[in-house]
Amino acid sequence: MLNIILLGPPGAGKGTQAARLEKERGMIQLSTGDMLRAAVAAGTPVGLKAKAIMERGELVSDAIVSALIGERLDEATTSGAIFDGFPRTGHQAEALEILLAQRGRTLDHVIELVVDEDALVRRITGRFSCAKCGAPYHDELKLPKVAGTCDICGSHDFKRRPDDNEETVRTRMAEYREKTQPILPYYDARGLVRRVDGMAPVEAVAAEIDAILDS
Ligand code: AP5
Repeated sequence: MLNIILLGPPGAGKGTQAARLEKERGMIQLSTGDMLRAAVAAGTPVGLKAKAIMERGELVSDAIVSALIGERLDEATTSGAIFDGFPRTGHQAEALEILLAQRGRTLDHVIELVVDEDALVRRITGRFSCAKCGAPYHDELKLPKVAGTCDICGSHDFKRRPDDNEETVRTRMAEYREKTQPILPYYDARGLVRRVDGMAPVEAVAAEIDAILDS
């Protein structure tokens, strides 16, 4: 059973690749961003704490996100887990080690998606999704085939993430540089980091990740 981390700044393609791996390999995508957005939508105590922090593009507390991962980790018993957007700080990296060790599991790969920041701002501010089925679209890269109608479910409702405006994206990038990038040497020292060109087309990124997982 593989345990892998997908690491990279906002818009690097972590969610795109994690969702694909879940579909194609039956692995479980553990995205703290998705878990937090679900908590915000449901109005849970965690969601109420996280909402304003996420809208500013800052990081939610280590204790909250580590607890969310702990609650979901046992779902990935045989199929393996993809950590998408977690860990993002040194404390979260330590928490993950403990959570895995408690289950007799270890990390196999930390896959860093290497990307160009300015191109990412364009990627993120242009993205939107179907409000009903979640199918992803983009203003420049992938519009629905029929304007205003979801290709997958036919819905006419679309939504954008409240943190996908340029100002918040810049804060999210800065948070990544200051708090998340510094955890890479910790994994590098253990020989776990594999680097993938995240600016390549989605299929090429997928092929590189598959080659790592099959190696
Ligand atoms: P989170 O949801 O994790 O967002 P993020 O890291 O900012 O990443 P994104 O979801 O924006 O991007 P992605 O890398 O998944 O790219 P995607 O595949 O969507 O976190 C949101 C917030 O929650 C944080 O700011 C924080 O407040 C909080 N949070 C979450 N986890 C936390 C934690 N552990 N600790 C503390 N706080 C936490 O792709 C982006 C776009 O590009 C899409 O349109 C896609 O179609 C397109 N695309 C993808 N790949 C390619 C490609 N190769 N070529 C061209 N286009 C591509």
